[in-house]
Amino acid sequence: MSEDHALFIKKIAEKYGRDPTRLMDILLEVNARYGWFSEETIGHISEAMGIPRVKVRDKISFYTFFSRKPVGKTVIRLSYSVVEKMKGAELIARAFEDAVGIKFGETTPDGLITLTYAQCIGMSDQAPSALINHTPVGNLLPEDVADIVEAVKKGEDISQLPQALTDVNLRRSGPVVFAPMDAGTALRSALKMTPEQVIEEIKKSKLRGRGGAGFPTGKKWEACRNVKSDFRYIVCNADEGEPGTFKDRVIMSERADLVFEGMTIAGYAIGAEYGIVYLRGEYEYMLEDLKRILEERRKKGLLGQNILGKKSFNFAIRIQIGAGAYICGEESALIESLEGKRGAPRERPPFPVEKGYMNRPTAVNNVETLCAAARIMEQGADWFSTIGTEASAGTKLLSVSGDCSRPGVYEIEYGITVGRFLKMVGAEHAIAAKIGGPSGRLVAPTDFDRTISFEDFSTGGSVIFFGPGRDLLTHMKQFTEFFVEESCGWCTPCRVGTTLMLKEFDKIIEGRATKTEVENIKKLGQTIKTMSRCGLGQTAPNPILTSMQNFPELYEAVIKPDDYIGSFDFAKAVEAGARIAGRKPHDEEEANA
Ligand SMILES: Cc1cc2nc3c(=O)[nH]c(=O)nc-3n(C[C@H](O)[C@H](O)[C@H](O)COP(=O)(O)O)c2cc1C
Ligand code: SF4
Repeated sequence: MSEDHALFIKKIAEKYGRDPTRLMDILLEVNARYGWFSEETIGHISEAMGIPRVKVRDKISFYTFFSRKPVGKTVIRLSYSVVEKMKGAELIARAFEDAVGIKFGETTPDGLITLTYAQCIGMSDQAPSALINHTPVGNLLPEDVADIVEAVKKGEDISQLPQALTDVNLRRSGPVVFAPMDAGTALRSALKMTPEQVIEEIKKSKLRGRGGAGFPTGKKWEACRNVKSDFRYIVCNADEGEPGTFKDRVIMSERADLVFEGMTIAGYAIGAEYGIVYLRGEYEYMLEDLKRILEERRKKGLLGQNILGKKSFNFAIRIQIGAGAYICGEESALIESLEGKRGAPRERPPFPVEKGYMNRPTAVNNVETLCAAARIMEQGADWFSTIGTEASAGTKLLSVSGDCSRPGVYEIEYGITVGRFLKMVGAEHAIAAKIGGPSGRLVAPTDFDRTISFEDFSTGGSVIFFGPGRDLLTHMKQFTEFFVEESCGWCTPCRVGTTLMLKEFDKIIEGRATKTEVENIKKLGQTIKTMSRCGLGQTAPNPILTSMQNFPELYEAVIKPDDYIGSFDFAKAVEAGARIAGRKPHDEEEANA
């Protein structure tokens, strides 16, 4: 058995040329076979790859899809984000526990089923949802669960269940990403230009990155092209993992051809011969379709050697599957992960355009950005720059979820007001909108006349609506818990600061925080934002800080005066001891506290 085990791993290692940068693929294949990593398995991997065990352990421990203890043949990952909870995920969790006969975090004694929670599987539009091994199921009702579990026990094909994802939920197509496409048209236009002219055209279009930071794409490509190097790379960031975001899921299922076309054009522009798509592990169910599209493109001469007859223009694309780590969406963490390591963000500078994948100049672009770049080649920069606003050219895909009657993906023109948008999606009664997902801001109805654009409310794509009766403070706490969970732990302000902020925020929610303590949370939040190494820490305080800024009344209703006797601030209590002992309570409730 052990020999088979060693041989199996050796063969996989050989398949990837024992290349340590392909460790992720090797672990994924070993995981697919055994479901978990015993010390013996780690030893075999270490031996087959010629790398220390500690490196293998380190990588495994970073990703939620990898386990160090046995898991069931079927792993049911229930999506447990804020939106999922709003839509009843807790009831679904109890229904699974009843049907399977174990608690979440456990495996059945016969080794058949493991129940576990996932942060977000990219299906908030169809919440409550779950991944059953690699098959997504959505719009779950508690009464569906027994049948699903029965099907799992009988070994039936889960993708045939009525709850299996069938709906892409594209609610509104715009002229850029979801307009009809003909594979090769954009690339043919690009190849009529020189690479420098392609970059000029992209600059002229005013295209800015759609992954969140909004960096001008033409400038990024130019910087990458201008670094002297023997190799350059294009990386397509398809790792969307922020709860409430699923637009890239819809792009990859409906417009993968356009994404690959955009990557090929980017390759031509910057002088790269190799592109990698980093696809989040939760979307592995798309892999076979994506590989088929790549193969068709090769057959049509749109990938490979001397593409479309252009001498010496060669470009190949491979897909790297992730293994469940939100931080790997951050471009330098993604590159680390691609190189076979943990997904910890790098110190910057140098930026990826100077030293990226394999220390070579690398342009990392979001899926949607690459689609827009391809469309610009097809329709021209002038056409593109007239869509949207002055500083925000083009369209934006928004993933809409929460309290609205038409959740899904919308391609809108930049500049639309929040108010108009919420009518479009059926969220007229919203009391708040979280624009930009957990890391974005909580917007109050008084700001619903403002616009979605880089110059006003900028967003990577997620918009979550909250209707009347929602407990906003509890939801802000849950968003913060997400960041605590997903912090890679490298820097203290993020690792310790977010945990501290969460603890302090509990005091507010429980109605035992004083005014000064609330001010201190604000200061702590600002410190985390300015002192953290990467965008995760720099935005993690946003749920709490923006709710304080835009919903002060929620806080005024629960905070206590500074000499509140129920506050657990021990140091302050000692300092104020005598004064507290002698004062009159504020009300009866406090007197009883
Ligand atoms: C914590 C974190 C997660 C991120 N996740 C994503 C992601 O899922 N997809 C993405 O394109 N960009 C993501 N980004 C932004 C990337 O670092 C990077 O800016 C982007 O991929 C660049 O592409 P663009 O210029 O086309 O926007 C994330 C950033 C941070 C800090
Ligand atoms: S800010 Fe957070 S996620 Fe980013 S490097 Fe620091 S600890 Fe890691």
